Amino acid sequence: MKQFKPIGIFDSGVGGTSIWQEIQQLLPQESTIYLADSKNAPYGNKSAQEIIRLSKKNTEKLLEMGCKIIVVACNTATTNAISILRKTYSVPFIGIEPAIKPAALKTKTKNIGVLATKGTLSSNLFSKTAEFFSNGIKSIEVVGEGLVPLIEEGRLNDLKTKKLLKQYLSPMMKANIDYLVLGCSHYPYLIPVIKKIVGNHVTIIDSGEAVARQTKAVLKSLNLATTPSIVAKHLFYSNGNTVILKELLKDYKEKIDIEKLDF
Ligand code: DGL
Repeated sequence: MKQFKPIGIFDSGVGGTSIWQEIQQLLPQESTIYLADSKNAPYGNKSAQEIIRLSKKNTEKLLEMGCKIIVVACNTATTNAISILRKTYSVPFIGIEPAIKPAALKTKTKNIGVLATKGTLSSNLFSKTAEFFSNGIKSIEVVGEGLVPLIEEGRLNDLKTKKLLKQYLSPMMKANIDYLVLGCSHYPYLIPVIKKIVGNHVTIIDSGEAVARQTKAVLKSLNLATTPSIVAKHLFYSNGNTVILKELLKDYKEKIDIEKLDF
């Protein structure tokens, strides 16, 4: 029997499942283990040191479970911790960062919006990326304060969620953005509401598909890809409430297992 060698994925909570969906679509033969660290969400307001500590804890759990590669499905953890993770563990890491580059390349109004957590927008990695790519282009960066906890509670369509989004998107709309970058893996779940606020002339982009493509490329280059004949298993562990996780993944319920686990 072939050894179970899954792709490990972690996030501060349920948001990284938006990345998981892209990964399993592009790599259907690969097994996955997803850790939702909902007990410690949100990461966005924590210190870099604390984000590094939590990222190491999640990584070690995934390594203990036999993962061959780790996808950090959280912009906040990537921008604050991935360089340390790469130095500490020998397994390959894939990170997620706000997709500023494609937005900066495509904008016609020369104004792009970036909605992300405080931890991401204030990280060194983000400021380097932003400076490099948006030369000559104005990026209006707004902290999505309070959005992650609302998503963690499954309040995607809630009045409070809509009110906060209107408030955060308003300076971007005033600045005539034509691209909106979602710099947090939780936010793709808000796209239907965001679309109603920004209208059709603003293109919303997130990094999920790019992360899946990068995962595929790295697995191939390191000879770690699974042979197509294997039936994939998908295990989800949450140290918080599993109800929202089940709701967000209800379309996949036939092929996944969701369990509560203390980690
Ligand atoms: N999904 C995480 C991200 O991409 C949310 C961070 C948080 O927990 O504040 O940044």
